[in-house]
Amino acid sequence: MLSYLHSFHAGNRADLHKHGGLLALLAAMRKDPEPITYIETHAGRGRYDLNAPQAKKTGEYLTGAAALWQAKPPPRGLAPLAQGIQAENEDRDDLRYYPGSPMLAAKALRQRDRLELCELHPKEAPALRQTLARFRRAKIRHVDGLEWVKSAPGLQSRRALILIDPSYEQAAEYEALGAWLPEMSARLPSASFCLWLPLLPDGRHLPMLEALKENLKAPTMLGSVTWAANAKADRGLIGSALMIVRAPDGLAGGLARVQRDLLKLLKAPEKGARVERLTG
Ligand SMILES: C[S@@+](CC[C@H](N)C(=O)[O-])C[C@H]1O[C@@H](n2cnc3c(N)ncnc32)[C@H](O)[C@@H]1O
Repeated sequence: MLSYLHSFHAGNRADLHKHGGLLALLAAMRKDPEPITYIETHAGRGRYDLNAPQAKKTGEYLTGAAALWQAKPPPRGLAPLAQGIQAENEDRDDLRYYPGSPMLAAKALRQRDRLELCELHPKEAPALRQTLARFRRAKIRHVDGLEWVKSAPGLQSRRALILIDPSYEQAAEYEALGAWLPEMSARLPSASFCLWLPLLPDGRHLPMLEALKENLKAPTMLGSVTWAANAKADRGLIGSALMIVRAPDGLAGGLARVQRDLLKLLKAPEKGARVERLTG
């Protein structure tokens, strides 16, 4: 448990999908002036050094963040993410740092919004605290994020967005999430949820997807990209998916643009991008 470190994978193709989609989601939510409580159950360290041995070892960012860095100008759907990457590399000509979801969200949210960032790893949690120290409206919690959400005070009546980005280290995580998301989305009627899912050739996410389809009672959207059957790169991922419960108005178009432009950037067939209604 907790052997996963995102430093090996930061800035890969799935991160571009997840983070491009997250920025589209936050842009759609910001159209409503009501404050947002933004929560991450699995926050990571907030920023990743692509010169670190972990990133160098896998080189996964080379087909992801590095490809976006080199696209001048970046495709429209990925422009907000490209700006987020640029901001981490101010005063540099080369790409060295890649922002994690907490950093992207902290910058995209407004002064009136709040962040609650949960990270369980004993080294990643302090690193996250240090990286986000200047964002006073961000609380870093060294806790199990899924458990924390269950008992977070005042969430029932608050407008919230909850990002769930697990490492899927153990098969049991899929089953647990298949139960957690329907339960929590029923308990927190003012919250939207965004769950990231890996698409793998063995389809190990499919039973969870079926359970969610059956048990989620709130309207749910699924955005997905697939890039190449049997690809060996990126932990064997052949794609990436984002499940959004209670998506804000206008998200479908924004997400479709992110996905289409991502596949163009990756030189993958555009038919691999889908936005569909899962329930509701
Ligand atoms: C995929 S990474 C997160 C990446 C981050 N969301 C981003 O996009 O920048 C998953 C993180 O979850 C942490 N983690 C694993 N189980 C956890 C749990 N039960 N509660 C909180 N964090 C957990 C891991 O240590 C790891 O840092």
